[in-house]
Amino acid sequence: MRTVDLIHRKRDGDELSPEEIVYLVEGYTREEIPDYQMSAFLMAVCFTGMTEREITALTNCMLHSGATIDLSSVPGVKVDKHSTGGVGDKTSLIAAPLAAATGVVVPMISGRALGHTGGTLDKLESIPGFRTNLTIDEFQEQLKQLGLAFMGQTPEVAPADGKLYSLRDVTATIESIPLIASSIMSKKLAEGLDGIVLDVKCGTGAFMKKQMDARRLAQAMVTIGRRMDKRIQALITDMNQPLGYAIGNALEVMEASQTLQNAGPVDLTRLSLELAARMIYLGKAAKTLEEAREMAQARLLDGSGYRKFKEVIKTQGGDPRVLDKFELLPNALGAREITSPRAGFVTAIDAEDIGRASAMIGAGRSKKDDVVDPAVGVILEVKVGQRVDAGGVLARLYYTKETGLDEAAGLIEDAFHISSSAGEERALILEVIG
Ligand code: URA
Repeated sequence: MRTVDLIHRKRDGDELSPEEIVYLVEGYTREEIPDYQMSAFLMAVCFTGMTEREITALTNCMLHSGATIDLSSVPGVKVDKHSTGGVGDKTSLIAAPLAAATGVVVPMISGRALGHTGGTLDKLESIPGFRTNLTIDEFQEQLKQLGLAFMGQTPEVAPADGKLYSLRDVTATIESIPLIASSIMSKKLAEGLDGIVLDVKCGTGAFMKKQMDARRLAQAMVTIGRRMDKRIQALITDMNQPLGYAIGNALEVMEASQTLQNAGPVDLTRLSLELAARMIYLGKAAKTLEEAREMAQARLLDGSGYRKFKEVIKTQGGDPRVLDKFELLPNALGAREITSPRAGFVTAIDAEDIGRASAMIGAGRSKKDDVVDPAVGVILEVKVGQRVDAGGVLARLYYTKETGLDEAAGLIEDAFHISSSAGEERALILEVIG
């Protein structure tokens, strides 16, 4: 087999066999295939796509390139939830405890903030003392005891994906549906799960700006999961404005706590309940989706999801009192109001701009090794559909350093679209795949 011939065939739109995909991925991981040939192959995939058989082979190969987590000693059905990345998306902190409170086992392996999107690990680490670097033994033990544990991705899981992702990042080959689907699923399938609920974000603040692309990505991931005998469903959800009002790590923990006490924003509560219901259903704790929805709602109303989150925080070394006493969380020193230049209705809030602004003042990262400031972020004062007066507050920016503040404030102001008439109401859950 010659690498150049495989690149040639892919460039011309031919299907490669599973053996040929393995040859490329293993050869690249062992450093026998150079970056320039792999880059050419990835670019060919960007232009010509991949068949289902190719995507499955690529996922399988990356999944088996490193360690997989064996959760067979943990009793119960194991279901995780994965979001393709959004702004203000703290649903994992809400849906996971709600699902775990019904008896579903939730092994949550999460990522960090990158670019304009937030990451569950950074949010959790804003809780003083919270440890996300659990060993696999600690992870298994906590799952047995509490049915929920949060940890970060270890470098031993799917190393081929790590190497390919770094190359894609610098060769403009991230935005390919087969490559994104296989990358996400190889890591998720290495976790020893029985089921997975995917939240594929769609809109200005998401990877996938168009619903058609979000649908194709969701379908590709659901197909991979099914081929590997997993119970899997994907929701396509709107990211044309941030979810909830809070963007920034400690600020999002506060909002998650309010939501678990049934005092959260309507959109965040609605999506978290639906994700929890799907986890409960795939986790076989309910016979029908309707029953699963009732169970999720009941765990919200009786506070058992909230108590589950507290137990998890305590077990992972954090101070559970932060969920009631927000002053125990890192607090920003300064606040700046962003006001509306005119009266009217908010018709859109560009989630990417809001995410970029909060990253700019330290809530996120532009490079993998940037350090995040847990205290800083943005609180929206209005959402799409609401009316504002001229000079009314649109958002507050919470900061600890002045660096980048003016630019961030400008971005936030530009993110708000104000019009004389209210636009059409947009659905939050756009589609369900699987
Ligand atoms: N997230 C991933 O893990 N991989 C991708 O390719 C894109 C987003």
